[in-house]
Amino acid sequence: MHIALYKPDIPQNTAAIIRLGACLNLKIHIIEPCGFNLHDPRFKRVVMDYLEFSKIFRYEDYNEFLIKNKKKRIVLMTTKAKKKYHKFNFRREDILLFGRESAGVPEGLHKTIKDKVKVPMNKKTRSLNVAMSVAIISAEALRQNNLLK
Ligand SMILES: C[S@@+](CC[C@H](N)C(=O)[O-])C[C@H]1O[C@@H](n2cnc3c(N)ncnc32)[C@H](O)[C@@H]1O
Repeated sequence: MHIALYKPDIPQNTAAIIRLGACLNLKIHIIEPCGFNLHDPRFKRVVMDYLEFSKIFRYEDYNEFLIKNKKKRIVLMTTKAKKKYHKFNFRREDILLFGRESAGVPEGLHKTIKDKVKVPMNKKTRSLNVAMSVAIISAEALRQNNLLK
């Protein structure tokens, strides 16, 4: 199972997701540019020594990410989706793509992806923290594929 982060801009969130990936065997794809660098003390404080247990792939931009992953299905996680995450059939090799904290993903990119899912929320709220949404959705995707061992 793969997690992709579109131009993440909060170092602590990316670090928490990398740690989650190390613990649950999720491969992490980072689509740059990020709003920070991996030497940022805020990133290091949260990621601790989990980087060494992680599988991380970095891409200069979204185009490179697409070229290198053309055989995989990309599923976009967005509050604008109609489909609820627990009603979606995840596959073992899916890439679950998450938007950046400040702006999600651009509208143009949104339109190119067929499969989109959401975590249903209280209608008065706007969105989950990205790391929380990764934890919720990846747990369900792993469960469906019998990968929680
Ligand atoms: C903080 S949110 C982005 C908020 C941004 N202002 C927007 O309008 O998209 C960061 C990312 O977390 C994920 N996310 C947050 N809440 C979600 C939800 N309820 N369902 C699915 N994904 C969610 C999405 O991938 C989103 O792009």
